[in-house]
Amino acid sequence: MYGTGPNPRDEARGRPPAALRRCPRPGPRTGSVWQEAQEFLRLYHREEPRAGDGEKRLAEVRAEIEERGTYRHTPDELAFGARVAWRNSNRCIGRLYWRALQVRDLRQLDDAASMARECVAHLRLAANGGRIRPLITVFAPDEPGRPGPRIWSEQLVRYAGYGPGGSLAHGDPRNTGITALALRLGWPGGPRTPFDILPLVLQGRGEEPRWFALPPDAVLEVALEHPEAGWCAEWGLRWHAVPAIANMCLEIGGVRYPAAPFNGWYMGTEIGARNLADTDRYDLLPRIAERLGLDISTDRSLWKDRALVELNRAVLHSFDRAGVTITDHHTESRRFLTHIDRERCRGREVGADWSWIVPPLSGATTPVFHRTYDSTERRPAFVHSPGAGARARGEYPG
Ligand code: ARG
Repeated sequence: MYGTGPNPRDEARGRPPAALRRCPRPGPRTGSVWQEAQEFLRLYHREEPRAGDGEKRLAEVRAEIEERGTYRHTPDELAFGARVAWRNSNRCIGRLYWRALQVRDLRQLDDAASMARECVAHLRLAANGGRIRPLITVFAPDEPGRPGPRIWSEQLVRYAGYGPGGSLAHGDPRNTGITALALRLGWPGGPRTPFDILPLVLQGRGEEPRWFALPPDAVLEVALEHPEAGWCAEWGLRWHAVPAIANMCLEIGGVRYPAAPFNGWYMGTEIGARNLADTDRYDLLPRIAERLGLDISTDRSLWKDRALVELNRAVLHSFDRAGVTITDHHTESRRFLTHIDRERCRGREVGADWSWIVPPLSGATTPVFHRTYDSTERRPAFVHSPGAGARARGEYPG
């Protein structure tokens, strides 16, 4: 699972977060489809020796690439590739369960209406009545001279933003761009609560982007309440249960799947220390601190820190009470170190990006803080598609 990253504003400005600017980045992929296919198929046959004759498969793929400039993965190759892309996600602390990712192979679909239907099905399967299932749905790939479909929405579930940040007045400021785009495309708008569910914005192959409302029963949400205090329930705070990233490109062996939404489950801090707390998101800390009677006129009362802890308690408490899967940063940090050990036993090094792995709350109280990581980027991988950031901000390229 991913953290929300160091500074969302970097991304909004279209520049990589500071940590990435410092780290070695892989250049643009120069390898040919054939080179990448070979690398991937060798990895697959090495790790899955029961998959049959690797050399025979390589010859087949080579012939197909010579003819069409690309090739089709078998369903097993696709599932392996998607799982390893998760395993290779250096920003994700939740990779211990990478093998359990369920893969929906819907590569035959490339039109927006069918994709919308299947994104809804994805959300229902993933939510699973609260026992969240890690899941990916893979739609049609890019082909030479024939780009595949695109999902403009950053995640399958997002809350509308109708204006600048702060205090629940205008929803989630992160999503003002895509909200404005949905409205321009004809979405009538929501009921103007702080948590209006946005429609999906999808672009089928060769089509213009269109909006599709999500049926309310496809979106599992948790109403937040604090274990002792009343403010959470009073203010109507809530968050959705399934974090499903929708606009990253799944890259496997030289084939790009630009529409492949995937989800894990939340870690509490993503909601309590970022989404509801960041000053350019819901910015709730001053309000909470005031309710707690803290002195917000000076940093040194540590009002932000104290409000943060209470907000994060409320998130974990509410998900637990609702029977919805969520992890906390202490547990997940330990699991991540278990993951590193396990992978090492299998002869594999785990790449990681420290600035994303260390939780945004109580960093140094977790064991992931006190070490360094190898930041080599490996393939298969989830990569940011060119233009994805602009599309998620609703910027219609001219
Ligand atoms: N941080 C993002 C959010 O708060 C979700 C990223 C993916 N997270 C996950 N646990 N799989 O919505």
